[in-house]
Amino acid sequence: LYKDKDKLVPRPPVVTVMGHVDHGKTTLLDYIRKTRIAEKEEGGITQSIGAYQVEVDGKKITFIDTPGHEVFTEMRARGAQATDIVVLVVAADDGVMPQTIEAYNHAKSANVPIIVAINKIDKPNANVELTKQDLVTKLNLIPEEWGGDTIVVPISARNGTNVDTLLEMILLVAEMQDIRCIPDEPVRAVTIETKLDKGYGPVANAIVKDGVLKVGDYVVAGKSYGKVKALIDDKGRRIKEATPSTPVMIVGFEELPDPHSIIYVVESKEKAVEIVEKVKELEARELRKKRQIKLEE
Ligand code: GTP
Ligand code: NA
Ligand code: MG
Repeated sequence: LYKDKDKLVPRPPVVTVMGHVDHGKTTLLDYIRKTRIAEKEEGGITQSIGAYQVEVDGKKITFIDTPGHEVFTEMRARGAQATDIVVLVVAADDGVMPQTIEAYNHAKSANVPIIVAINKIDKPNANVELTKQDLVTKLNLIPEEWGGDTIVVPISARNGTNVDTLLEMILLVAEMQDIRCIPDEPVRAVTIETKLDKGYGPVANAIVKDGVLKVGDYVVAGKSYGKVKALIDDKGRRIKEATPSTPVMIVGFEELPDPHSIIYVVESKEKAVEIVEKVKELEARELRKKRQIKLEE
């Protein structure tokens, strides 16, 4: 993938928090960020993927939150694709549930390491041992303490119990992964979510993977292009550039980009338009082909 290995420099790990609905993903991230996102969310259901960067012992970690509701399969798949590590949250009073299994499968197919956080251990009906057995029987994940190689950390996201240990484990796994990027390489960013913002118009929330994205850059994302008018970081501040692993809101697309798209920087508006036209043409051709096949059937 990388031509010039000498140019690789470390970048912060991107960690996606996944798991069944209401198992405590957002509460965990809230605790980590010391903010209260879960309570501000309508109905307590995570509506979309949020991404935030925190600093632990002077080391940065980028977290992606994902919703656990079954309808958000696509978001979980995307979250797993954009990440270096998955933290699989399993509530100790509920065990492995359908979206736990689904999230696990996404992580597996993305070939990323999984750390299990058994959450809600403060609850009277929490059963950590039973939940571990569930991990073994339903996911074939064998905890380290049972002779396997899966790191399992029992936590209480609400009280913060063992969250420091979980963060240590994340940094440990990140170190073993040797997570790197090429900062002066062409920019490549993974889209997490796109939306039509009231004030900003079509925006993409993304995580920069390679290169440094700057205000003024021409960007292409699938069939959409634009000139970066503003970059907003996870704290709502305007920034001039986004380095690798930085979550950022990109303002300036002409139309809403495909939420599955990879964002590239190109040298000019003309080039951007040319690429978008090509993508549209290819898509139209594919569509015609599919229709033709249907007709022949
Ligand atoms: P979705 O995004 O909708 O999938 O949910 P989520 O996994 O983000 O769960 P969320 O953080 O919204 O928590 C769901 C409920 O569980 C909330 O009422 C939390 O207060 C509660 N909860 C989360 N973590 C803990 C915990 O460690 N202990 C206890 N007792 N409750 C918790
Ligand atoms: Na919830
Ligand atoms: Mg949530």
